[in-house]
Amino acid sequence: MMAARIARFGSSSLRPLTRATSVLGPKVFTGKKQVHTSPATCFPKCELTSKRYPVERGPFSQITPDDIKFFTELLSPHRIITEASELEGHNTDWLGMVRGASSVLLKPKTTEEVSAILSYCNQHKLAVCPQGGNTGLVGGSVPVFDEVIISTALMNQVESVDSWSGVVVCQSGCVLEALDQHVAEHGLMVPLDLGAKGSCHIGGNVSTNAGGLRLLRYGSLHGSVLGVEAVLASGEVIDCLSTMKKDNTGYDLKHLFIGSEGTLGIVTKLAINCPPRPQAVNLAFLGLQSFDDVLQTFRDAKSKLGEILSSCEFIDRSSLECVEENLKLKSPIEPHPYYMLIETSGSNGDHDEEKLNTFLEYVMSSGQVTDGTVATEPSRILHIWSLRERIAESLIADGYTYKSVVVYDISIPLPHFYKMVEDMREHLGSSIIRCCGYGHIGDGNLHLNITSKEYEKEILNRIEPTIFEWTAKVKGSISAEHGLGFKKRNYIHFSKSDGAVGLMKQMKKLMDPNGILNPYKVLPDDN
Ligand code: FAD
Ligand code: MLT
Ligand code: ZN
Repeated sequence: MMAARIARFGSSSLRPLTRATSVLGPKVFTGKKQVHTSPATCFPKCELTSKRYPVERGPFSQITPDDIKFFTELLSPHRIITEASELEGHNTDWLGMVRGASSVLLKPKTTEEVSAILSYCNQHKLAVCPQGGNTGLVGGSVPVFDEVIISTALMNQVESVDSWSGVVVCQSGCVLEALDQHVAEHGLMVPLDLGAKGSCHIGGNVSTNAGGLRLLRYGSLHGSVLGVEAVLASGEVIDCLSTMKKDNTGYDLKHLFIGSEGTLGIVTKLAINCPPRPQAVNLAFLGLQSFDDVLQTFRDAKSKLGEILSSCEFIDRSSLECVEENLKLKSPIEPHPYYMLIETSGSNGDHDEEKLNTFLEYVMSSGQVTDGTVATEPSRILHIWSLRERIAESLIADGYTYKSVVVYDISIPLPHFYKMVEDMREHLGSSIIRCCGYGHIGDGNLHLNITSKEYEKEILNRIEPTIFEWTAKVKGSISAEHGLGFKKRNYIHFSKSDGAVGLMKQMKKLMDPNGILNPYKVLPDDN
């Protein structure tokens, strides 16, 4: 009986994929490619943020021909974009929910150019919006009104790779996947991975303190990023670009730029600690019957796989059905109420395989896991990862996804993790297409998603503020990894005290007295 069950691992009817790296391909997404390439023709225009939301323009100047002349002289004509059709994709966010009306995008190549731009904007009271790969999900990366967009697209140089220490210094506009491929040549990996890797920039990742698929193993960017160079609103360059793993000299200011979403400075360079690239990677895709089994399997994975456990992700049946139905991806196992992806990475294939087999035998013989498959070849690993990484994309095809309004990206104590999805499903009844949950269960991070054919205000009113009150009640966080940006700024009080928000406001005033850096983002409106 046992042998027959175990034999199921490794059996597969998966189609091999040809690409060996990103699910989404280099530079652009497969599903939402148009946002980043030719938006004006392919992407339906969404309503202007200034019309859709009750937000007032701050006391900033408007762009004049003199400003354009200054920027053109500083950069060169091809590094300043004023063409409306070219600007469209940079004015609109990935979810197509917020749209600004910027008339100018600048593409600096160096820290000195960023400094000159900010110094000028500060003197002339011009508001700016820093932009990396524009994959953010909280509306932080696009202007709200007519802010000058400062893109890091051309700041994509790797300055140094120290293969002794693993420390890599690069500019902030390196695309995450390209950076990872670059450091792979030195036997290293970037300790961060996420579905948007083909488009997001490492500076955007640092500015959002992105979490992703391997935080469980490598920790957050507050730990991996050793140094940051950033330009303040005044144009002053703050050099905190330490490459040392230990550096206790005064306040550790780099942390102010990690996760502050472009409101305190523009990150121009960073030093990141890259671990050795694993020699052996295995990925198990497991089917489970109950959420208690999911929790028990996570606990067993930690204790039995120990140091080789590199990712532990969760998908519920409804999320997997969405990827299968809307993207035509094929599950390697029969339908189950819950699924887990458990990845191991290590330096010795035989050792890792033995450990993984012992773990799998254990969880199958105890009945916690009722089906599964293990992939070791890159093409199969890639396919299984795509089932998880492309859920966000697949949900959009349902019609309307309520994450467009406010992403329900929540940190939640594990015993309550799935209860939230169940409660919300019951609360919403039959008015919706789906209420599903997936996410980084190894980090207690749930992505709760609700879709309906079209937007219905009544459904939204039933979701919010219930979802945030629920999260606050169990002492969770209303934004686990995506930040607050524009869309979530007024919900901050569900997760932060008045005192903490007050201190944040004082820091903003100190570092950006004119408030030109990414206004209307992160901090709540004054009321
Ligand atoms: P942008 O979207 O361009 O900007 C994000 C914010 O950072 C904005 O406020 C912007 O003003 C600011 N910013 C950008 N660059 C700089 C800079 N150099 N200096 C100062 N401020 C700057 N996020 C996760 O955490 N985990 C995931 O698993 C994950 N998966 C995703 C999957 C998909 C399919 C998509 C579309 C998004 C996903 N995200 C995820 C969200 C997003 O990819 C991350 O937030 C990412 O870090 C944003 O990087 P970016 O370069 O696209 O930044
Ligand atoms: C993910 O983990 O897939 C991303 O954070 C995107 C999402 O929130 O759906
Ligand atoms: Zn996520």
